Amino acid sequence: EALAQEVLRLKRERNAVILAHSYQLPEVEEVADFVGDSLGLAREAQRTRAEVIVFCGVHFMAETAAILNPEKTVLLPDLEAGCSLADSIRPEDVLAWKAKHPDGIVVAYVNTKAEVKALADVCVTSANAVEVVSQLPQDRPIYFVPDMFLGAHVARVTGRRLDLFPGECHVHAGIREEHLKALLEAHPGAEFLIHPECGCGSGCLYLKPDAKMLSTEGMVRYAKGAEAREFVVATEVGILHRLKKEAPEKAFFPVKPDAVCEYMKRITLEKVYLSLKEMRHVVRVPEEVARKARRALEAMVAVG
Ligand code: MLT
Repeated sequence: EALAQEVLRLKRERNAVILAHSYQLPEVEEVADFVGDSLGLAREAQRTRAEVIVFCGVHFMAETAAILNPEKTVLLPDLEAGCSLADSIRPEDVLAWKAKHPDGIVVAYVNTKAEVKALADVCVTSANAVEVVSQLPQDRPIYFVPDMFLGAHVARVTGRRLDLFPGECHVHAGIREEHLKALLEAHPGAEFLIHPECGCGSGCLYLKPDAKMLSTEGMVRYAKGAEAREFVVATEVGILHRLKKEAPEKAFFPVKPDAVCEYMKRITLEKVYLSLKEMRHVVRVPEEVARKARRALEAMVAVG
């Protein structure tokens, strides 16, 4: 409590805003001005009048905020908060595909480093990937990087042929068919909300054809509006705090209770406090990279 008060006091003193991803620890979400998914956070970062953005999430998200806001100071409370998915692809991988497909379009999931975004034509998040891809020209090859499960989902829904990079989020990839099966038996009346990054992805829809494949923001919106009282949730378990808070009359069951991203959880309230107190760690993207990545990000923020 006292620490949370200190954080709020420092935040005012620094003219800062605290943005937190839905996979953050509950005590971090509680001091945030805004809690959301990558798309919502990017938009909020663009919109804020604060001079300092304390980004409670992982490194590529702080980079995204810095790219969209070159004049603001973006702080990441722990530089070790990385992302296995963003780390899975290098700029060389994209350049090799481009060399073979000079007329190709590169679609980069926002979970990528700035250097990869700089080579992309457009970025997407799980909330708008289907919409963005469905608007792309029909006659050019498309490379979807780096999450192959999300890519397969987008290809299925849009009917487009996509070249996929074989990347995955280690937490979501670990949510598999057998986990889903067990919950189907335990909660036959529940609605199933599945994140498209999950390893049980599109291929498991035969088990539960009416399962909803949704981003975290989509899950919150859907659960609030749906008639069902019980939901089985397949994504990182950090989302449960928000789901319970925003739809308190409903029950939520994680498909895999140990689906925990250790990188997201590196951000603690204590580190948020130190971050504001000592103005650390500043995340900067070299302007040459930022300029190229900004085009792809602005195209993303505009859709959905
Ligand atoms: C994001 O976009 O932040 C992640 O894909 C998780 C989600 O919100 O679906």
